[in-house]
Amino acid sequence: MADLNETARALVAPGKGILAADESTGTIKKRFDSIGIESTEESRRAYRDMLFTTDGASDHISGVILYDETIRQSTSDGTPFPKYLEQQGVIPGIKVDVGAKPLAKAEGETVTEGLDGLRERLNEYRELGAKFAKWRAVISIGDGIPSEYCLWTNAHALARYAALCQEAEIVPIVEPEVLMDGDHTIEQSFDVTSRTLHAVFTELRDQKVWFEEMLLKPNMVLSGYDCSEQASDQQIAEMTLKCFRRHVPAAVPGIVFLSGGQSDEDATARLNTINAMGPHPWEVSFSYGRALQAPSLKTWAGESANVQAGQEAYLHRAKMNGLARSGSYSPEMEEKVAA
Ligand code: 13P
Repeated sequence: MADLNETARALVAPGKGILAADESTGTIKKRFDSIGIESTEESRRAYRDMLFTTDGASDHISGVILYDETIRQSTSDGTPFPKYLEQQGVIPGIKVDVGAKPLAKAEGETVTEGLDGLRERLNEYRELGAKFAKWRAVISIGDGIPSEYCLWTNAHALARYAALCQEAEIVPIVEPEVLMDGDHTIEQSFDVTSRTLHAVFTELRDQKVWFEEMLLKPNMVLSGYDCSEQASDQQIAEMTLKCFRRHVPAAVPGIVFLSGGQSDEDATARLNTINAMGPHPWEVSFSYGRALQAPSLKTWAGESANVQAGQEAYLHRAKMNGLARSGSYSPEMEEKVAA
């Protein structure tokens, strides 16, 4: 029997965090479009190959979240990605939701789909090497939203997913993302994140999900990106911790933040500030997509001649976030390494 608590704890081991490389075909196309690279099955494979085969990354990266296409692809010398990662001591994971779709009778709100046939898909992913999974619910802040209807519908689906994962001996990462797009204040982010977590942990408990055998992947509590008053890193850390202390049971081994559109250095600095205020009841770590990949993607630019430079850029971000796990990061380290 797989020990799910052990896997969850390994994913939040000291000094390490998770790389989210599970962009759907649509999302990775957007990322490639931004730097003028054509998105083909081979260019997507080559890009992921560059990230996963970075020497030394496993010192800072505990696990990688893959996409359905990626978990079936291989390194340039033919080793399936999940097997290669395992050999490096990196735990392979898989995104299993099929995306956020418009929620009926709820203008501007979405519900995440993917429950139909999930039991069978989880069994296949486990055979392909996945030890953990991810499901992302999306909550928007706006005029009169989110509704309680949206929060509880998404929370219910997250809990159904998480229970199926545990049944399949896969650690569920439960991701309720409150988007920070908009001009809302940090107090509004706090309120909506709090309502969201209340619904999520109520549903998880009601649906028999063991808190010891899961990880939470939330947003940090931030000022909306268009808000005229932007909170300081210190304020962000305080509000974020206050919110999570109220809602996240100590039995949950770790909170792994998403970066959600923060700049890579902001995401690192804020994680660092939060950890500098520890110890906390849970490990506080990262499961970053854009904040780990952005400089590397730009440096690579689709050219095989740039692979080494792209790997250096990725390794640097992985290292900085690894240091932020213990509050040992400082922004001066960015310049020293860049020089
Ligand atoms: P970002 O860190 O780019 O927000 O991505 C994390 C993720 O996996 C979102 O589902």
